[in-house]
Amino acid sequence: MSADHFTLIHRDTSCGARLGSLKTAHGMIETPIFMPVGTNATVKAMTPEDLLAINAQIILANTYHLYLRPGHKLVKKLGGLHNFMNWQRPMLTDSGGFQVFSLGDLRKISEHGVKFQSHLDGSYHVLTPELAIEIQEDLGADIIMCFDECPPATADYNYVVRSLEMTTRWARRCKDAHTRQDQLLFGIIQGGMHHDLRARSLADICSIGFDGYALGGLSVGETKEQMYGVMEACASMMPKDKPRYIMGIGAPEDLVEAVWHGYDMFDCVMPTRNARNGMLFTSQGRINIKAKIYEEDERPLDPECGCHVCRTYSRAYLRHLYRSGEILASNLNTYHNLYFYLDLMRRIRESILENSFTAFRHSFFEKSVYNQK
Ligand code: GUN
Ligand code: ZN
Repeated sequence: MSADHFTLIHRDTSCGARLGSLKTAHGMIETPIFMPVGTNATVKAMTPEDLLAINAQIILANTYHLYLRPGHKLVKKLGGLHNFMNWQRPMLTDSGGFQVFSLGDLRKISEHGVKFQSHLDGSYHVLTPELAIEIQEDLGADIIMCFDECPPATADYNYVVRSLEMTTRWARRCKDAHTRQDQLLFGIIQGGMHHDLRARSLADICSIGFDGYALGGLSVGETKEQMYGVMEACASMMPKDKPRYIMGIGAPEDLVEAVWHGYDMFDCVMPTRNARNGMLFTSQGRINIKAKIYEEDERPLDPECGCHVCRTYSRAYLRHLYRSGEILASNLNTYHNLYFYLDLMRRIRESILENSFTAFRHSFFEKSVYNQK
């Protein structure tokens, strides 16, 4: 893609927050943006029509899962992910690195790549940087990610040093293997909780040159202080003219914090996974819809929410659906939670444009039930 795929529209004068637009083969994305997670070429419990209705601009899918089932060759044959799932807006695929490393005993790491056993049938596979790129080219997302190693928060210093050095060599191999000019390739910065190693990884990955840069290795069991510390330490060193993505975060308060430091893109299973467990985000805080207090509650889930669910159904009905294990509970709960996240990001963008994001952040933490810690 051309070098001008990312345009900084406005920088909030009161903090690091930025408003941008990212051009992809399937259209523009306004940043800062939250990307709903659609691991298996579906955002669980949501049709693409639902996603359009809540104005999702971009969704994410996973290399690891789609490689194992149904296979990238099949998806390619069926016209790529967009055609396969009938989603014509932008998509991003994660490289599989993170998912493979979550397999624990089922994997073995070497310079060549990662040998792992499928969580589906126990079969053996080897994922390499080159294969991760080949799979992502076949899947055909607009933005694809380098294959990286994501060490646990508990990894010791020397392990993290060796790991980030290998991630840099893998990033170079990914860039060399990448052939599709219509896809953006993002590099991933590792380095654990050590700020000096983050700085090193960042410099190494940026010197290779990518279309965007992601912070990986967060939300892996560290404290919020550690996570915010890494965010802050890296923010001033990240290239200003490229999109900045923090992978796998977060809670609403994490998004506000990250935007304030100047990050642009986010993904997390929290709104979708929590929805399926009956935990819903509202303007009054998190609520558990299965609680007895909602038994006869005829009010909308969140009276301040403009979503279809809140305009149509009562808390009592949502509680009933959830307790009865009805399929519709997952759809309605997910619909609302994703709306909440996307609406939060929309309000964030609006306040950046007005140079009032510091005030927004202040009142978010002041008034709100979404505290930082
Ligand atoms: N998703 C969340 N964290 C990570 C990470 O460190 N690497 C990759 N590839 N994906 C992630
Ligand atoms: Zn709602």
